[in-house]
Amino acid sequence: MDMSINLFLYLFLSVFTFLLLRATAAAHLRRRKNRLPPGTLGLPFIGETLQLISAYKTENPEPFIDDRVSKYGNIFTTHVFGEPTVFSADPETNRFILQNEGRLFESSYPGSIQNLLGRHSLLLMRGTLHKRMHSLTMSFANSSILKDHLLADIDRLVRLNLDSWTGRVFLMEEAKKITFNLTVKQLMSFDPCEWTENLMKEYMLVIEGFFTIPLPVFSSTYRKAIQARRKVAEALGLVVRERRKEREGGERKNDMLEALFEGDGGVGGGGFSDEEIVDFMLALLVAGYDTTSTIMTLAVKFLTETPHALSHLKEEHVEIRLRKGEVESLRWEDYKSMPFTQCVVNETLRIANIISGVFRRAMTDINIKGYTIPKGWKVFASFRAVHLDHEHFKDARSFDPWRWQSNAGSASSPNVFTPFGGGPRHCPGYELARVELSVFLHHLVTRFSWVPAEPDKLVFFPTTRMLKRYPIIIQRRSLFDPCKE
Ligand code: HEM
Ligand SMILES: *[C@@H]1O[C@H](CO)[C@@H](O)[C@H](O)[C@H]1NC(C)=O
Ligand SMILES: *[C@@H]1O[C@H](CO)[C@@H](O)[C@H](O)[C@H]1NC(C)=O
Ligand SMILES: *[C@@H]1O[C@H](CO)[C@@H](O)[C@H](O)[C@H]1NC(C)=O
Repeated sequence: MDMSINLFLYLFLSVFTFLLLRATAAAHLRRRKNRLPPGTLGLPFIGETLQLISAYKTENPEPFIDDRVSKYGNIFTTHVFGEPTVFSADPETNRFILQNEGRLFESSYPGSIQNLLGRHSLLLMRGTLHKRMHSLTMSFANSSILKDHLLADIDRLVRLNLDSWTGRVFLMEEAKKITFNLTVKQLMSFDPCEWTENLMKEYMLVIEGFFTIPLPVFSSTYRKAIQARRKVAEALGLVVRERRKEREGGERKNDMLEALFEGDGGVGGGGFSDEEIVDFMLALLVAGYDTTSTIMTLAVKFLTETPHALSHLKEEHVEIRLRKGEVESLRWEDYKSMPFTQCVVNETLRIANIISGVFRRAMTDINIKGYTIPKGWKVFASFRAVHLDHEHFKDARSFDPWRWQSNAGSASSPNVFTPFGGGPRHCPGYELARVELSVFLHHLVTRFSWVPAEPDKLVFFPTTRMLKRYPIIIQRRSLFDPCKE
C-alpha cells in the first residue's frame, strides 16, 4: 500500500518536473547559441532512471556509461532521479567540478537526506563555516593523530572483534561492527558496551532511511529513520552534556568531541551549541561507517578471487607478525612497511568505487569543453567511469594490485584516481580509512584462512554492497602454534 502510493506520487511529480525542465531547457537553448552536452533525456516522466537502476543492480553496470560515452563522448546529458543531469566521465572536467566547489558548483542533496543528516552536518555546510569545520575534521584524523592515538585503538578493536569469530561469519556485518565501534571510540572515547550496541541498532535504522525514495511523508522506512535519528541524537546529546560537566571539573579527553569543545566556531561564534555538535558527529558516523566497512568486505572478496594476490599479501603480513611475535600491537613503522598492502588498498578503491561519483548543482551557466551547463542543472562527476576507463588504466576492469607498483599503474595524471574526491570537500577520512583497512587485513590474513560459504553477488544500487553480506567459513591458524596450522 505504502509502496504504491509512493510510486504513484513519484511518477506524478516526475511528469511534472520533467515537463517543466524540458520547457526550461528548450528555452535555454533558444536563448543562447550555447549547446548542452549531447545525450538524451530518455522517456518522459522518468528519464533514464530505470535503465540506470537496472544496470546498477547487476554485477556489471558498465554498459550504462559505456554506451553513452561511445555515442556522445565523455560528457553527456541524461535525465535521472527526477532531473536532467550532465554526466562527466572526463577526468579534467571532474577536477574542474571538484576544485570549483562553492564558486561555480555546490553540493546538493535531496531534502529527505538533509533531514536525516541534520542542519549542521559538514556535508551540508557551505562557505567559510564549511572551510573551518572541514579543516577541524582533517586535523582529527591527520597522520600525526593516527600515529600517536588512533592506530592503537584500531589495532585493539580489530583484534577484539576477530577474537569472537567462529565457523561461519558474515563479513559485512563484522566489518560494520568494527567500524562503528571504532568511530564511537574516536569521536567520544567510548569502548564497546551495551550503550554502543543500542546506539548501533538505532543508527542502522537511520542509515536505511537514506536509501528510500525521497518522498519522506509516505514512506514507513523513512518515518522510522526519522524517529531513530531523534533517539540517536538524544543519546549523543546526553553524552555531550555529561562531557561539558566533566570539562568544568577540569577533565580532558583526547577525541573529536574535545576538539569540538575547543573549536571557537559555531554559527554565532563563541563555541558550538550541543545541537551543532550532535549533528556534526552524526555526519561523521554516516560518512565513515558504510564506506569503510564496505571497502573492508570488498577487499576480501577481490583477494579471495585472486589467490596469487592474497598469497603475496599474506607473505607481507606474516613477515611483520613473525618479527613482532603473537600479541604485540602494530606500530606506525609497521603500517609504513606494507607496500603491497597499499597497492591492494588502492586497487580495491579503484575497482569497487564505493562512492561512484558526486552530484553537484551549477550555480551559474558554466562553459566547459565547448558545452554549456545551464545554471541550476545537476552535474554528476563520475569517478567510476574514469577509474574503469581503459584509456587511463590498462586492462581497467580487472583486479590487479601489481599495477600500482609501477608508475604506469598509478595512472597517467594525478586527476585520474579520485576515490576520496578532491577540492574543498576532499574526504577528511581518507587516511583513517586506509589505516583501518590495512590493520584489518593484517590481522585477518595472519589469523585466519577462509572460503566463501555460498555464492554472493556484488551490486551497486542503492549502495555498493554484497547482496548476502558476504558469508565466509573461517578457520583459525596460528603462526606460532603449529598444531593449529
Ligand atoms: C573507503 C572509505 C571512504 C571513502 C571511499 C570516502 C569517500 C569520500 C568522498 C568521495 C567524499 C567527497 C564527497 C563530495 O565531494 O561530495 C567524502 C567526503 C567525506 N568523508 Fe569520506 N570516504 C571514506 C571514509 C571516510 C571516513 C572513515 C570518514 C570519517 C572521518 C569520512 C568522512 C567524510 C566527511 C566528513 C566528508 C565530507 C567532507 C566535506 O563535505 O567537506 N570518510 N568521502
Ligand atoms: C594534526 O592535527 C593536530 C591538531 O589536532 C595538529 O597539532 C598537527 O600539527 C596536525 N599534523 C599534521 C601533520 O597536519
Ligand atoms: C563492538 O565490538 C565488540 C567486540 O568485537 C562486539 O562484540 C560488539 O558487537 C560490537 N558492538 C557494536 C555496536 O558494534
Ligand atoms: C595510492 O593512491 C594514492 C592517491 O590516492 C597515491 O598517493 C599513492 O601513491 C598510491 N599508492 C601506491 C602504492 O601506488
